[in-house]
Amino acid sequence: MDRIDKIILEHIQKGSVSGEKLARLTGISRVAVWKRIKRLEKLGYKINHTKNGYILEKETDYITPFEIEKFLKSRFLGKNFVFYEETDSTNIRAKEGDFPHGTVIFAESQTSGKGRKGRRWISEKGKGLYFSVVLRKNLSLENFTIMSLLFPVAVKEAVERHIKNRIHLKWPNDLYINGKKFSGFLIETEIEGNEITKLIAGIGINVNNTEESLKKIETPATSLFVEEKREIDRKQLLADILEIVEDYIESFQIEKILKKADESLLWKGEDVILPEKNIYGKLLGINKDGGLLLMTEKSIKVIYSGDLSLRKKI
Ligand code: ATP
Ligand code: BTN
Repeated sequence: MDRIDKIILEHIQKGSVSGEKLARLTGISRVAVWKRIKRLEKLGYKINHTKNGYILEKETDYITPFEIEKFLKSRFLGKNFVFYEETDSTNIRAKEGDFPHGTVIFAESQTSGKGRKGRRWISEKGKGLYFSVVLRKNLSLENFTIMSLLFPVAVKEAVERHIKNRIHLKWPNDLYINGKKFSGFLIETEIEGNEITKLIAGIGINVNNTEESLKKIETPATSLFVEEKREIDRKQLLADILEIVEDYIESFQIEKILKKADESLLWKGEDVILPEKNIYGKLLGINKDGGLLLMTEKSIKVIYSGDLSLRKKI
């Protein structure tokens, strides 16, 4: 969806507009207008073809740039909004393109959604939120751990505006409700020297997925719909997420981020295990650098590498 589609939608939402007038307004031919109308219909827009021209009857449920604009409250995040009905992975799109700071790449479905460590992220069409935030302001490498906590902390806060259930953060960055994962984050970076020059935060959230469709996922998974037993407005939720993520990025209050992460930590006070490191102990919390504090048999250990899998010890 581009600028021309937006001009067409803006006009036909106010009343019927002839193909000829739309052609004049957009600077394209009447046939090209007709082709675009067909494409918009394919995206879910209900458009009536009357003798006076085209008129928009109902907007689409998809989150196109035209739809999100009506909800956005952020100042820079998502102002450049790239939409795909389907793509391989929004993180791959973000990596391959040259996008300005604050761009959001959004897909209604992904054919190769990526999880951490080469795992897959199942992205059911039209049901979840799958998007990547591109940040291009140089950032010291030292801040990487905080950045990877900032996104789940901010998303948790936004989701809490819409639901009653409690959300937990499974270190380093999965979000859980009632012991099941509903959201995951894949943060990727381009680095020069000691600086992160491009940060891509890939965010996946199961929103209106049904219990039946979540059965495809091997690990225990849930959605906001399953836990709340009602549909959630994806457009409003995405706009809230972008607003809160932006606030966290702009204020960058490290202590606040760490406190929020620590307060919502899954399995705090319980026995956990890090299989890759063969370490187990009681989970104490998150320290002042974003590391995980574990009380092992011998000592208190701090774990920094995010490329580890935390499991509950049974
Ligand atoms: P850890 O981060 O501790 O290794 P994890 O098992 O959640 O935990 P990740 O790499 O973070 O691993 O996430 C990828 C995993 O998430 C996949 O192995 C898959 O089982 C699960 N998964 C894939 N798609 C979804 C989804 N839509 N909702 C919830 N979970 C999913
Ligand atoms: C995980 O839990 O391992 C991370 C899942 C991250 C999924 C999101 S969906 C949008 C973005 N594009 C991807 O391919 N992955 C991330």
